[in-house]
Amino acid sequence: MVLSKKTKKKKNIKKYNVCVVGAGHVGLVAAACFAELGHEVVCVDNDKNKINFLKKSKLPFYEPELEPLVKKGVKKGNLNFSASLDIGIKKSEVIFIAVGTPPQDDGSADLTSIENVARAVAKNLNSYKLIVEKSTVPVQTGKKVKETIQRYRKNDVEFDVASNPEFLREGKAIYDFFYPDRIVLGVESKKAEKIFKEIYSSIKAPLVVTDIYTAELIKHASNSFLAAKISFINGVSRVCELAGADVEKVSLAMGLDKRIGKEFLNAGLGYGGFCFPKDVEAFMYISKKLGYDFGLLKEIKKINDCQRVHFVEKIKEHLWVLKNKKIAVLGLSFKPDTDDMRFAPSEDIINNFLKQGAEMFVYDPQAMNEAKKIFSSSNKIKFFKDAYSAVKNCDCVCFLTEWDELKKIDFKKIKKLVNYPFIADGRNMFDPAQVKKYGFEYISIGR
Ligand code: UGA
Repeated sequence: MVLSKKTKKKKNIKKYNVCVVGAGHVGLVAAACFAELGHEVVCVDNDKNKINFLKKSKLPFYEPELEPLVKKGVKKGNLNFSASLDIGIKKSEVIFIAVGTPPQDDGSADLTSIENVARAVAKNLNSYKLIVEKSTVPVQTGKKVKETIQRYRKNDVEFDVASNPEFLREGKAIYDFFYPDRIVLGVESKKAEKIFKEIYSSIKAPLVVTDIYTAELIKHASNSFLAAKISFINGVSRVCELAGADVEKVSLAMGLDKRIGKEFLNAGLGYGGFCFPKDVEAFMYISKKLGYDFGLLKEIKKINDCQRVHFVEKIKEHLWVLKNKKIAVLGLSFKPDTDDMRFAPSEDIINNFLKQGAEMFVYDPQAMNEAKKIFSSSNKIKFFKDAYSAVKNCDCVCFLTEWDELKKIDFKKIKKLVNYPFIADGRNMFDPAQVKKYGFEYISIGR
């Protein structure tokens, strides 16, 4: 999934020395993609082990199509990795900040890493620099970054701060980077705008040029709106269950209305991952701090939390007592095509089952290592190398992530292996009539 050579040759692109700070999902993808666009890139991370791994083109997480892109950049010599922020900043004109902004107990984002980068920029301001927020940050963070650099710098060298939020999805990150729906540029100077336009000149997408506050807000508003769509349809799914209606048909018909759109209207176990849960909370927090209590955001979170609890309750209605029941869980990552377990519905659901005394038998196509780290303290959870070994002698088989591999599961084979043929489909992956034909009891979401 790279830009075609034709597209790149057509444009005589100006090459920039780019430093990407943070080798996480956003940073590493951006670094590899900027190198693919022809820029000289150094990706910096303070985790030395990670950097040593990356120097050998070994990735710290699973993302389809990223590894060949990293290998290509490293081989070509325009993608380098370093544990030294000072060196990265000194040799670059454009610095993208893609460090983590994890949630704190009160819901606000922890911006310590962003401040550290701003201070390092101040220390290493040896020539003009454009400092770009790429991480999702609360509105007005850019102002703080600018003030920090002004406070700690030792000279009068010119610099610009800008916001260029990233909208890529895990699992589709490379595609999203090269083929975005839009590129948002929050700038304060014509010079910064010109640099951005040159950096992204090979990418065909509408450019939305704004001030920095607006760009920062676009990101929080976009993620929260997508989360709202998911919670809305999940709320509808609860009403469907009570009324005897089918949420799949409701969402299909709603989505055909162009004003609504069909994307992000799949009912299920709700959203997880490192972005939506933290961003909805951070947006809630910052709105309140600015003087507006954004109550809708609270409901979005509440509905999302409830989906996980409700799913276990529905299973309990069927199995009556959960104590000593054997439950298989197929699919653990927060969504398919990633090994990311952060804020995954599977974590809450498995913990709920464990609390009620069930024994868990789990499998995921990619997230087993991450899952083992999370559940290392429980001896009531067993990990399996494939779905069929996991379901052996179980009283219930739960599908929590809609991996393609799991969608193709052999129901005949499963039927022979389980203790009781009961399937709980948390992502509406299957046609109820088909599953029942194989002799299973079947429950899903909102139908
Ligand atoms: C999300 C946004 O989609 C990206 O645009 C953004 O850049 C990113 O957050 C970020 O802020 O870094 P991501 O977290 O990778 O991307 O995952 P999504 O594909 O958006 O899915 C989020 C969650 O919503 C998943 O748990 C998924 O299962 C759930 N979902 C999605 C539903 O439950 N129903 C749907 O219809 C769609």
